[in-house]
Amino acid sequence: MKLSNNYPSLRDKTVFISGGGSGIGACLVEAFYRQGAKVAFVDILEAESQALVSHLQALADENRQHGAVRFYPCDLTNIERLKQIIGQTEQDLGAIAVLINNAASDTRHNFLDVTEEYWDQRMQINLRHQFFAIQAVYPQMKQLGGGSIINLGSMSWYESQGGMPGYTSAKAAVLGLTRGLARDLGPDKIRVNTLTPGWVMTERQLTHWVTPETALDIEKNQCLKDSVMPEDVAAMALFLASDDSKLCTAQNFIVDGGWI
Ligand SMILES: NC(=O)c1ccc[n+]([C@@H]2O[C@H](COP(=O)([O-])OP(=O)(O)OC[C@H]3O[C@@H](n4cnc5c(N)ncnc54)[C@H](O)[C@@H]3O)[C@@H](O)[C@H]2O)c1
Repeated sequence: MKLSNNYPSLRDKTVFISGGGSGIGACLVEAFYRQGAKVAFVDILEAESQALVSHLQALADENRQHGAVRFYPCDLTNIERLKQIIGQTEQDLGAIAVLINNAASDTRHNFLDVTEEYWDQRMQINLRHQFFAIQAVYPQMKQLGGGSIINLGSMSWYESQGGMPGYTSAKAAVLGLTRGLARDLGPDKIRVNTLTPGWVMTERQLTHWVTPETALDIEKNQCLKDSVMPEDVAAMALFLASDDSKLCTAQNFIVDGGWI
């Protein structure tokens, strides 16, 4: 991991990350761990998540004092389980100061094939858990005197990307969730922001969706021609979680290489 910024305000903070077992989420887990934070994460991918914990615990970095990391298996469509784990995290690591609502699923689907049940499932995976995680961490953050909530959005709906209306609709709604709750939680010094990645070259994107043709789209549409990597998203998340962004709330922070 090449990130160079050091945020002393993140040291010993409890950070809760959903979908931390792979992709951008796994990078977030490592980035916060390297800042000395106490990181709790949930995912359905148990083997990958356990491997990440082992990898982090084996990290030998003489220059930095690492934090703690804990994985809790959870299917986020089960809100009761999510709430229970958020309570357990407080007991295990202390009150949650930073929440990163990262988990999602961009599985493609034809709009003509979508049933009511499938629609509801897309909302559960891509939107509903974000709200209930915020509701559940609220008392912990209030007790701490403040906190930072980061909801992962997506540029896909803004760019009129088709082929996954259950994903793009939910991701557009994340902006509304952020702005409405930023107002409600502001008096308690709890900040709520959206972090919107562009097209990030995770393992899943490379194996599922990136082709020689789509790679040309990146070349054509991004002002900056380098690939957006999970670390670039993590860099913004660290800033938004730290006290250095203490007056930033209700905003959407985009990391997309200038996709126009
Ligand atoms: N990669 C991109 O190009 C890109 C672009 C725009 C937005 N985003 C957003 O960034 C975030 C992370 O993206 P990613 O590419 O790393 O996604 P990903 O699909 O690679 O990883 C998502 C993680 O969430 C977990 N997850 C999915 N459903 C779950 C469930 N029901 N319960 C628990 N865990 C579950 C997965 O197991 C996985 O570890 C998402 O919110 C995504 O919408 C990503």
